[in-house]
Amino acid sequence: MSEAATRPTVLVLDDEKNIREAIAIALEQEGLHVLTAHDVASAGRVLRERIIDLLILDIRLGEIDGLTFFRKLRSDGFEVPAIFISGHATLTEAAQAVKIGGFDFVEKPFTAEKIVIAARRCLEHSMLRERLRLIAARDGSREIVGDSIAIKRVIADALRVAATSANVLITGESGTGKELIANTIHTHSDRREIPFVKVNCSAIPENLVESELFGHVRGAFTGASTPKRGLFEVAHRGVLFLDEIGDLPLGAQAKILRALQHGEIQKVGAEKSTAVDVRVISATNKDLQRCVREGTFREDLYYRLSVVPIRVPSLRERRDDIPLLIEFTIDRLCAKHNLKKKKLDEDLLSELKRYPWPGNVRELENVLERALIMSGDTITVMDLPEELITAESEDKPTDVAHGAPGTLKQLRDEAERDAILTTLRKHGGNISQSALDLGVRRPYLHRRMAVLGITKRDYFS
Ligand SMILES: Nc1ncnc2c1ncn2[C@@H]1O[C@H](COP(=O)(O)OP(=O)(O)OP(=O)(O)O)[C@@H](O)[C@H]1O
Ligand SMILES: [Mg+2]
Repeated sequence: MSEAATRPTVLVLDDEKNIREAIAIALEQEGLHVLTAHDVASAGRVLRERIIDLLILDIRLGEIDGLTFFRKLRSDGFEVPAIFISGHATLTEAAQAVKIGGFDFVEKPFTAEKIVIAARRCLEHSMLRERLRLIAARDGSREIVGDSIAIKRVIADALRVAATSANVLITGESGTGKELIANTIHTHSDRREIPFVKVNCSAIPENLVESELFGHVRGAFTGASTPKRGLFEVAHRGVLFLDEIGDLPLGAQAKILRALQHGEIQKVGAEKSTAVDVRVISATNKDLQRCVREGTFREDLYYRLSVVPIRVPSLRERRDDIPLLIEFTIDRLCAKHNLKKKKLDEDLLSELKRYPWPGNVRELENVLERALIMSGDTITVMDLPEELITAESEDKPTDVAHGAPGTLKQLRDEAERDAILTTLRKHGGNISQSALDLGVRRPYLHRRMAVLGITKRDYFS
């Protein structure tokens, strides 16, 4: 293999010779292999003939602009990551470049250092993606789906910390994917060959926590007729996942602290301690710092566990990931239930993007699974649970009619039902036309119809 083949290859496309050369020199010094092109035709040739790891291109290219060229590359199926170079006049276009999938842009005039940093970041990012793809392929483990900056940051942090032996504390609301992240860290650590030992701290009865985690000797307590290895011992040289760590009683917290501080555990009933080498990943949906303030969680243990804290964002904070998650989940569920892939009604997506998802990705999966099983050829808003359709998005003021109790609410509902039915009949059941007439959005009309129990039978009678 030639030396160039083992180094990442960068293609620099610029019509100005000085800039091409300045970038080439800076990147060659960094150990990258650099090719240059002065116009899109020659750049196109290079891209067809070789594997290019990074494309750096000017937004102004003379006869054709860099954005158009990049769009064309994408539509021709070239996935090459790109960094755009922009002058002051082209800053808005630069922002657009990032929107259409460019990795970054560097403003002119730039220093060699700036371009080197941008290139390094971009290459590192592609490498992480590649590694992620590898895990999914290797052990069939669930892929972390998401394209939002928020989730990408979490993935990058997880992969970075995986290579070290630091303890990691993963926090986030229920169903955000904390366990998925923990799995990813384990699979990427040098302890991946040793089984990943998981324990749900909230599921163990308080009086058994110590014996579960540290084991016991025979006769340690009534019922301990045989000795038992604790989970710390089982996880020796490997990784122990302490899930729902916020639910651990204070007594057990003290013992865990000791195990982490001194690398030794004491079995229940044992006189001597046993040395263990365990990396701990813990997770909780509680606010542990608050628990520390309230005295239910030891501060010293908190610091031991959270050497590297990772906060997994809620689904509300990364709504951009919803379409991708839906696609992956539907594919997976169709395969699981042996179903033909179903289409999604356009209003459905806007409803799913609107809903605040208190149960995060897990709730999304459950809703989709139910809708998939219950729907016809197309999944529509009508296949969603009523709570979801009636739930208000966080950013919208609440509908006054919703909270109104008793007869006033009933009167309003009846009047609304009549108005909707009359309009639907007038338009022969056409929802778009009726929504227009009633002055509401289509999804809202769908939602109200579901809430008020209006079905086709009502307006086609
Ligand atoms: N980014 C993601 N991509 C794909 N699937 C995800 C993602 N995040 C979560 N999931 C899926 O959502 C479900 C819940 O994830 P997980 O069990 O990891 O959440 P959790 O944060 O540990 O929840 P809890 O706090 O309730 O224990 C799983 O089926 C998981 O595979
Ligand atoms: Mg969990």
